[in-house]
Amino acid sequence: MPDEVLSAMHRQPIDIYKGPLLEVTERCFDGLRKVFRTSGRPYFYAANGHGAWEAALSNSLSKGDKILILESGLFATSWGDMAKMMGIEVEVLAGDWRRAVDPARVEERLSQDKAGEIKAVLVVQVDTASGVVNDIPAIRKAIDAAGHNALFMVDTIASLGTMPFDMDDWGVDLAVTGSQKGLMSPPGLSFVAAGDRALAAHQSANLRTAYWDWTFRDGAVHYQKFCGTPPEHLMFGLEKAFELLFEEGLEAVFERHRLLAEAVRRAVTVWGEGGALELNIVAPGERSNSVTAIRMLDGRDPEPLLKFCDQKCGVVLGIGIGALSGQAFRIAHMGHINAPMILGVLSVIETGLVALDIPHRPGGVRAAVEWLGQELQG
Ligand SMILES: Cc1ncc(COP(=O)(O)O)c(C=O)c1O
Repeated sequence: MPDEVLSAMHRQPIDIYKGPLLEVTERCFDGLRKVFRTSGRPYFYAANGHGAWEAALSNSLSKGDKILILESGLFATSWGDMAKMMGIEVEVLAGDWRRAVDPARVEERLSQDKAGEIKAVLVVQVDTASGVVNDIPAIRKAIDAAGHNALFMVDTIASLGTMPFDMDDWGVDLAVTGSQKGLMSPPGLSFVAAGDRALAAHQSANLRTAYWDWTFRDGAVHYQKFCGTPPEHLMFGLEKAFELLFEEGLEAVFERHRLLAEAVRRAVTVWGEGGALELNIVAPGERSNSVTAIRMLDGRDPEPLLKFCDQKCGVVLGIGIGALSGQAFRIAHMGHINAPMILGVLSVIETGLVALDIPHRPGGVRAAVEWLGQELQG
């Protein structure tokens, strides 16, 4: 989180019914429309990303509806688990934790659904556990090629603000995101953007409940937008975060993420030549610019390296989660990151590899430096 975001929250609460807070709310809604690139309707929840998941499902689906989950890691299937608990029938198009969703398989499955039983297709743009990035426009094309009418719902929690997302242009009907990643704000806010088809589905959805309900939140009173007291301080932070993102320019923000993510990948690739670790995602074009998952090979436990980085150097790396639990670690490179942070993290990891005598080819940091040096020439 930028210091400016932290500072923006350091103030007394203000009137929640009238006055300046109404403008803060409008600026946050504007910011959301800009990052989602949509003229659809954004909704604001005082909740983490799981809250936005429930909001998306409950507002657009009915008990017994069937949905298709496109697996490429942990998070789409977890969204599906939540749907199951809500009485939705869930089919998982099983995927590979090392590959992106294959659009041809989506087209194939949807083409078989002649009766149109599948009401929605759910996918994540970036899966934070596997580190994969899915090709959202290609999946949209696959749905269209199958002539299928399902709603297309995309989780952008780990991708929005780190890479392009174009909700309207890409034909996404509903998108969800959270405050704590690319949006550089504290955890605790999440958002749904609903396009026309999702809003139409909402009219007959019977899973609606009071807190998440879009109809109530569309009411004329400001208070209704939050179904209660607005999370003011988180909004002060978010407003500032949007200001910083737009000042830098979204294209420049995406480019910063691309450069730094590739620096990480170059370093890991060099270390991996020593035989003890490798990038989880196999195909270079499917590796996300938000997070990189690194597998340890030959049953090696990543814990000593994580412990070294944390306790000796004050760098907290992500643990492996889901199917990669105990077998991998992750480097986050999303949000308010810059070259000194990433080069610092890579240097700490390389120091750990040396200190713990983990086989690796030296020079990972050098490879990252060379990449950045070449890209930033002139
Ligand atoms: C892609 C993705 N979806 C959903 C979630 C869940 O969000 P939260 O932990 O804020 O509930 C996460 C969290 O890391 C995520 O990365």
